Amino acid sequence: MTFLPDEFLLTLLEKNKIADEFRNFGLSLNPCDRGFSCNCPFHSETGNSCIIYPDTHNFYCSGCGAGGDVITFLMKKQEISYNEAVQELALRCGLQVPGISAEEAGRIQNRRERCYEINRETANFYYQNLLKGSDRRGLAYFRERQLTPQTIQKYGLGYAPDDWHQLYQYLSRKGFSDEELLLANVCRRSEKGNIYDNFRNRVIFPIVDMHHHVIGFGGRVLDDSKPKYLNTSDTPVFDKGRNLFSLHFAGQHIPCTLILAEGYMDVIALHQAGFPNAVATLGTAITPQQARLMRQYADKVIISYDNDSAGQNATNKAIQHFRDVGLPAEILHIDGDAKDPDEYIRKFGAERFRLLLKHAQNVTDFQIDRCRNGLDLHTDAGEVMYLRRVAQVISEIHHEKEREIYIRRIAEELEIRPEVLKQQTNIFRNRRKKNNSNQTFHNAEILFHTRDEINPEAQTHLAESKNEELLLGCLIWLPEQFETIRNQVRPEDFVTDFHKRIYVALCEKIPVSTWLIPSLLGNAFSAEEMGRITKIFIYYRDKVNIQTVSDCIANLHSQKTKMADASNMSNDDLLQVIANKKKNIRLQY
Ligand code: GTP
Ligand code: MN
Repeated sequence: MTFLPDEFLLTLLEKNKIADEFRNFGLSLNPCDRGFSCNCPFHSETGNSCIIYPDTHNFYCSGCGAGGDVITFLMKKQEISYNEAVQELALRCGLQVPGISAEEAGRIQNRRERCYEINRETANFYYQNLLKGSDRRGLAYFRERQLTPQTIQKYGLGYAPDDWHQLYQYLSRKGFSDEELLLANVCRRSEKGNIYDNFRNRVIFPIVDMHHHVIGFGGRVLDDSKPKYLNTSDTPVFDKGRNLFSLHFAGQHIPCTLILAEGYMDVIALHQAGFPNAVATLGTAITPQQARLMRQYADKVIISYDNDSAGQNATNKAIQHFRDVGLPAEILHIDGDAKDPDEYIRKFGAERFRLLLKHAQNVTDFQIDRCRNGLDLHTDAGEVMYLRRVAQVISEIHHEKEREIYIRRIAEELEIRPEVLKQQTNIFRNRRKKNNSNQTFHNAEILFHTRDEINPEAQTHLAESKNEELLLGCLIWLPEQFETIRNQVRPEDFVTDFHKRIYVALCEKIPVSTWLIPSLLGNAFSAEEMGRITKIFIYYRDKVNIQTVSDCIANLHSQKTKMADASNMSNDDLLQVIANKKKNIRLQY
């Protein structure tokens, strides 16, 4: 691990105060005993869950777990890397990042800016070519898809000519080098070494970020040829997994309801029909980062994917991501003879789509519907299987009243007595309760609704993980205990890899730092991990003493012994554990 020098980081944090950065982003801060509280900039809320700790240069939101320092804040807000965030902050206050020459620093900054410029020029080129070029096919295509001139203008839609070099020549004349054009991925280099335009004979959808920079493009063929869509590859300013199409329009009012559609054309059609709150991913399945990004703006999302099995499977995946980040989701069903929102609106109009939105389905209903998949409900076997699957879904509902409602409804549908379904549901509930008495399964159950992406092992080793956390808290807040701890604890003693990594980093850092704050570990951990580290840091501030240290170490060692014992289990016991585990995994569906 190589860290940036403490002195540099501390100066950087001192000169770019975290509270000022929050204010610059338009957040209003309320004084509180430890610093300031405010509404969290990373999930939509009105409860002031985010606390800023000026003395340690940190922030932490107890609502969503976002946290870190001003560097983390910029990384998350601008979707940039650690080095880029440090660079930006250093430039702002005239500091030089150690190990990076002023030239190099300028070059990194410059690379991003040149990419933005290239993208802006490119978008303009395609747009002008759509409207004024001699080849009218692009415009005809959009007309045929019933886009109005206003919509075309609003989205800056374009047309890439059916030519290998027009854009290249245009941008070269503007003074961009080959290397820059390749970096921005508007051009490519052939095996022979010739540079050619990436998008040809395609209509173009510029992708714009929250700061209104054009960051990339999607391009669609005009006919049925393949691939139907082409997207910009990742560049210094474009990361498909971290941006969403049209979020700059959709996220203008916070908090909002977002509509998540599959395609660019769906979003544009929705916008044109009076639903500007629609977004889409950029040619890939939705990622956890995108779910988190949406939560920054929305208090609810309506998933509006295609009306085919791929769309429904994608919906199921998306539900999981939204559940993981705590963003409530509903599912919209495109009925009638339409495949996606775009087709639906063209066939049935905006008002009928508004009705669909109003009747979007809750997640449980969606999951129950899916229970039918692959079953013939006219056969007894099919019906029994359906009953079991539904019982499992219902058994996961927390509120009794709600469970009752579903039980009655399904019983009616299957023409069985509600008691039968209730009994089946209770079997699942009891089994789960029984498992709960076993600590391991209890942990999985607790985390069942909030999967721990940062420290996945904590899911099955909750007690061990808590103890490890406490030990890290001791290390941070009782530096005089450092030698004692290091002499007795080896990295291998940690059960969870995440905590082990923090331990190793702390062991490296503590002997050479006068004052340890999370920022000093920054470049070894992701922005999400920094949130968790900040939580540990803040939480254990006044909660550790010498006694804690010895308890913690004793626990750590006894846990290790217990885990070793597990390897001596009889085969029967082991099989039982595995069977239960599988059950748990299935319940997670
Ligand atoms: P239209 O046919 O123009 O209405 O497109 P659609 O939005 O209905 O397309 P579809 O449902 O086929 O695809 C939805 C989204 O998936 C598109 O907007 C693209 O982002 C992406 N996509 C579709 N086809 C491809 C492909 O061939 N390659 C890549 N990378 N992405 C694709
Ligand atoms: Mn479509």
